[in-house]
Amino acid sequence: CIHGIPRAPPDKILGLTEQFNKDKNPKKTNLTVGIYKDNWGQVTTFQSVARAQMILDQSIELNTDLSYLPIKGCPDFQLNVLKFLYRESCPEGAESLDQGRISFVQTLSGTGALAVTSKFLSLFMSRSVWIPKPSWPNHANVFQNNGFDDILYYSYYKNGTLDVDGWLDDLERGAKSRDGPPQCIVLHACCHNPTGIDPSREQWRRILDKIHELNIIPIIDMAYQGLDTGDLYKDAYLLRMSLDKKRYNWNNGLFLCQSFAKNMGLYGERVGSLSVVTPVRHNSKEIKRNVDSQLKKIVRGMYSSPPGYGSRVANVVLSTPHLRDLWHKDVKNVANRLHSVKAKMAERLEWDSLKDQSRQHGMFLYTGLDMRSVETLREKYSIYLVQDGRLSLSGLNDSNVDYVCDALQSVHRE
Ligand code: LMR
Repeated sequence: CIHGIPRAPPDKILGLTEQFNKDKNPKKTNLTVGIYKDNWGQVTTFQSVARAQMILDQSIELNTDLSYLPIKGCPDFQLNVLKFLYRESCPEGAESLDQGRISFVQTLSGTGALAVTSKFLSLFMSRSVWIPKPSWPNHANVFQNNGFDDILYYSYYKNGTLDVDGWLDDLERGAKSRDGPPQCIVLHACCHNPTGIDPSREQWRRILDKIHELNIIPIIDMAYQGLDTGDLYKDAYLLRMSLDKKRYNWNNGLFLCQSFAKNMGLYGERVGSLSVVTPVRHNSKEIKRNVDSQLKKIVRGMYSSPPGYGSRVANVVLSTPHLRDLWHKDVKNVANRLHSVKAKMAERLEWDSLKDQSRQHGMFLYTGLDMRSVETLREKYSIYLVQDGRLSLSGLNDSNVDYVCDALQSVHRE
């Protein structure tokens, strides 16, 4: 009964912003959630996005329709996102697209894509998923909420580097100890969250070979495309490698959960997609149609249909050549600033995690600070990091970098 409901813990990332908002210290600094802020501390709208919004504002035809989108989302958005993902970012996917083998739904950003994926998989294919240790804390939550009873953690990080041997051993041992339905695995496409450490291309090759050999279903979580190198296309390398048809035919499909939250700054608009690349088979068309139909049924039962505005904005950016070019520049600027913040920190702090700056990729710095130090930072300096020591780089700017670095240095020493 309702009296017996236990209290759920606050969210490990968003819960801290709730705490931050209550903090009265004028020097308080929020370095928790992965939201890009500029050097003035503002969550800025990308230029390309602002212009797309202007186009929409001026277009009665494009922006006055407040009716429902179809269950699978806006058809133009689908067309342009598929083109962006499977022709431009990953030409290796074009053949699957041409053969009509890719199922698609517009989702409530990357988390929504993961939710639909996990619901679909748990209903039809698997209830067991491998997640890296550590990972984004919400991964386990999403899979648990959607019918997965077996959350397994693969080794990922050891002494500041990737533990690829541990990773492969875990998968191998896990596969040997069970029969039954296939397992799934979550792969961070780039800018691993929280560590920022990504496998090299050679390491990815070994990892993908092993996953393929063990018949594990890949779920690629691509939330940070472009924020590593500043090049949207380059950063899609894991998708390209996975769709190398000379090497792999994913028997149970490949699931791509993709988001425009970070690389278009459309966080609150919840814009993203799930695409399922179905395998080459004599009846692929039918497989795809069946997958489509089930995804639609899931979405209808979960939230009926996605919101409209953000996907219209993204669609204008993707389909207007000069805005698309501008978008690529916007993303480059974001990546450049992230690198420059890291460089500024490195000037002030002699930390291992900052020494070789090419080692960690993306929006975050995985400081290596323990929970106690993170608490001290919060209690003594009102500087908020995620409990695992992850720091959101763009929260630093010219006006707080000294304050933050001094505080980091002092807790590091304690
Ligand atoms: C993060 O890790 O900070 C982002 O992915 C935002 C979120 O939803 O947690």
